[in-house]
Amino acid sequence: MGRTEGLMDWGRWWLQWRRTPVASGRGDSWTSLLRARQSREAKAAAVAVSALRAQLGRSDAKVELLDFGAGHPQGGDAVSTTIGRIAREAGTDKRKARWLRAVALSTQGDRTRDRLRILEVGTSLGLGGVSLLHGSQGELDYTGMEGSPAMVAWASQHLGPWSPRLVTGPFDRTLPEEVARSQPYDVVFLDGHHEGEVLLDQWTMLQPLMTAGSCVVVDDIRWSVDMHHAWCALAGGPGVRSLDLFRMGVLIMDHGPKAPLLRVPTALLA
Ligand SMILES: C[S@@+](CC[C@H](N)C(=O)[O-])C[C@H]1O[C@@H](n2cnc3c(N)ncnc32)[C@H](O)[C@@H]1O
Repeated sequence: MGRTEGLMDWGRWWLQWRRTPVASGRGDSWTSLLRARQSREAKAAAVAVSALRAQLGRSDAKVELLDFGAGHPQGGDAVSTTIGRIAREAGTDKRKARWLRAVALSTQGDRTRDRLRILEVGTSLGLGGVSLLHGSQGELDYTGMEGSPAMVAWASQHLGPWSPRLVTGPFDRTLPEEVARSQPYDVVFLDGHHEGEVLLDQWTMLQPLMTAGSCVVVDDIRWSVDMHHAWCALAGGPGVRSLDLFRMGVLIMDHGPKAPLLRVPTALLA
């Protein structure tokens, strides 16, 4: 799997990332996303998520997780941990929150529907969901998928104001069921099972649900060598424009001529 660990590994990723050409945001195809990233709404989402993450991060409430993620058996692993640890180690932080809100703000979606449809694969405590939804007033429909029932209970508290639809169970069962519903999505946040092959399978399954102009955010694209390989396969594939935020990547479904992979200016990285 080649997990990224320590300064040396991150330093190598950094040098590699810095060689990618930068999106100027001035009249290029990333202008509206970069503008949304600078908006008051995106800043407010980052502040709110940062406060919630800090509050949860101090919690020593015990929780029994059912972990289906990378390195755990297919039937899930019962893991005893604390809410504080989950928030600190797996929860969306303020840099990521700001980008997530910017994506939700700048995605046009299918104009024939009056509500943007969002799917998060790997909801955990709901910090990613709060980032996407913060400040919205009923114009967004959110579905979150999560393996661990204990996490779903916490997420439903944090996402309650937006009436989320939360789907519980391992993705190898719940994702095919979701795809079979044939409901389109405008924004997808892939932040569940961190294994390259699983990411590629999820992408293949979800692609038919993605509308033109829809946006996919992939988290932890440098979490391991195989996650990065999978990201490169998605970013270099047909029918997408791709932007590298360093820890996350953004793909826009676009069937125009293939554009080169760009990165954000260093000050804006997530
Ligand atoms: C990194 S956390 C998600 C963090 C969240 N998106 C956020 O922004 O705060 C990944 C979540 O995916 C869930 N997960 C990982 N692999 C899974 C699988 N194969 N099936 C179901 N859930 C899974 C884990 O239980 C965990 O809560």
